[in-house]
Amino acid sequence: MRFLGLLLACAALLQAAAAWPQNLRSIYHSEVLERGYGKALFSPKVVIVSMFSPEAEVWYDIPEFDVLAINISVPGLSMLYPDVHCTADGEICQLTTGESEINAATTISSLVASPYFNFSQTYFMIAGIAGVNPEVATLGSVTFAKYAVQVALQYEFDAREMPTNFTTGYVPLGATTPGQYPTSIYGTEVFEVNEVLRDLAVAFANTADLNDSAAAVAYRANYAPALSYLAGTKEPSVVPCDVATSDVYYSGALLSEAFENTTTLLTNGSGIYCTTAQEDNASLEAFLRAAMHKRVDFSRIIVMRTTSDFDRPYPGEAASENLFWADQGGFEPAIQNIYLAGIKVVEGIIEGWEETFSKGITPTNYIGDIFGTLGGTPDFGPYSSSDSLSRRDTEAKIPMRRRVRRDVSVTMKPLLR
Ligand SMILES: *[C@@H]1O[C@H](CO)[C@@H](O)[C@H](O)[C@H]1NC(C)=O
Ligand SMILES: *[C@@H]1O[C@H](CO)[C@@H](O)[C@H](O)[C@H]1NC(C)=O
Ligand SMILES: *[C@@H]1O[C@H](CO)[C@@H](O)[C@H](O)[C@H]1NC(C)=O
Ligand SMILES: *[C@@H]1O[C@H](CO)[C@@H](O)[C@H](O)[C@H]1NC(C)=O
Ligand SMILES: *[C@@H]1O[C@H](CO)[C@@H](O)[C@H](O)[C@H]1NC(C)=O
Ligand SMILES: *[C@@H]1O[C@H](CO)[C@@H](O)[C@H](O)[C@H]1NC(C)=O
Ligand SMILES: *[C@@H]1O[C@H](CO)[C@@H](O)[C@H](O)[C@H]1NC(C)=O
Repeated sequence: MRFLGLLLACAALLQAAAAWPQNLRSIYHSEVLERGYGKALFSPKVVIVSMFSPEAEVWYDIPEFDVLAINISVPGLSMLYPDVHCTADGEICQLTTGESEINAATTISSLVASPYFNFSQTYFMIAGIAGVNPEVATLGSVTFAKYAVQVALQYEFDAREMPTNFTTGYVPLGATTPGQYPTSIYGTEVFEVNEVLRDLAVAFANTADLNDSAAAVAYRANYAPALSYLAGTKEPSVVPCDVATSDVYYSGALLSEAFENTTTLLTNGSGIYCTTAQEDNASLEAFLRAAMHKRVDFSRIIVMRTTSDFDRPYPGEAASENLFWADQGGFEPAIQNIYLAGIKVVEGIIEGWEETFSKGITPTNYIGDIFGTLGGTPDFGPYSSSDSLSRRDTEAKIPMRRRVRRDVSVTMKPLLR
């Protein structure tokens, strides 16, 4: 009887082992196990954040490193992209958020909460494609942002129903005409990341030979008749300029100009409206909340966007032609350039780790959100640096600002045993 019991127990064990998810097995079988279980298994130096498959796949099967050596499934990641992928030494990882603001915020929130990782020294590089303003850059450009602006967080009228004296159907929240500063602040309007790190990333990326396509060369030439679109007619290059986030994939000269105005308004004139994407504010909000609890270092975030399509038509072209039908030729070079420029940034960080990057790059600009959550005074938003904290609180009449920050501790019975 006892022997049979033992046999049954062995069989059950074997069955459980066979049922282990492949991903979990690859963690346990890796040398990373030697670091011991009970504390975080991975302390990556660089995490690459992609938004969808084409952006992710450029990092797989490359000669420099094998980022598919370890797969870690993290609860809360997208059902389409359930794993964080890492190199065998755990130094470089990559994950895919899924597209648009909701996917980005949910994935990054889940990632930073995972007990598998210690992100205290990690550099995060958001590395995706984006639309582009031909006044600032062109198809295939590689841009690095200082500001991320949630431009469509506004009231909106269909243009056919808007007051006749409005220039756009978008009106900032709490305001009554376009261009007025919003009085209802949600806190995700603008994020500012480390400019010194941004400029180092620009320098690394500048050593890359960028990709281009014949179709993109031809399409760019159409923008030449408009003097203001000069940048759009040039060859791809590395450009420091800012990113607008909107779930709505908009296109056309008027919406682009309206959101350029919003970027100017929300960054108090310092943001350069340049690329348009659907995630960055959302990812940055999740990183910021994690930084409040010291799970990530907000000064170690890079926002790289390579540009796949113009946000507006060339002179004489219909907006719908530009969005739906024209062969802009920018998608393939933009995808290639994520890797070509991004690998230089990754290598720069890894090679300079001991000397420079492990210690961190001290920012000289304000970093964080419109609330000043991480300390310091934003150089944008409704508060000027001469306002005292109490004046900002009492006179701004904005329900926000420096709420008491503390780590909440709650003791609960476990839900499952
Ligand atoms: C990790 O997942 C990818 C597919 O997402 C697969 O190609 C690769 O073989 C996996 N690696 C391991 C170690 O299982
Ligand atoms: C995370 O890594 C940092 C830097 O190596 C270390 O000081 C810290 O103790 C680690 N934290 C945990 C919880 O492992
Ligand atoms: C982030 O959100 C803010 C506020 O909604 C907005 O102003 C900013 O443009 C957004 N940035 C991105 C990259 O979406
Ligand atoms: C449009 O007209 C309304 C009503 O006359 C006025 O209150 C508002 O300030 C005007 N807005 C702009 C943008 O001129
Ligand atoms: C861009 O990449 C494609 C695909 O790898 C390649 O065929 C083409 O020659 C490259 N062009 C340039 C200008 O690098
Ligand atoms: C953007 O702002 C400029 C300057 O205030 C204004 O002339 C223009 O009409 C605005 N554009 C849109 C689309 O709102
Ligand atoms: C930004 O602009 C708003 C509206 O014009 C103004 O109230 C605020 O003081 C400015 N903030 C800074 C930091 O300059």
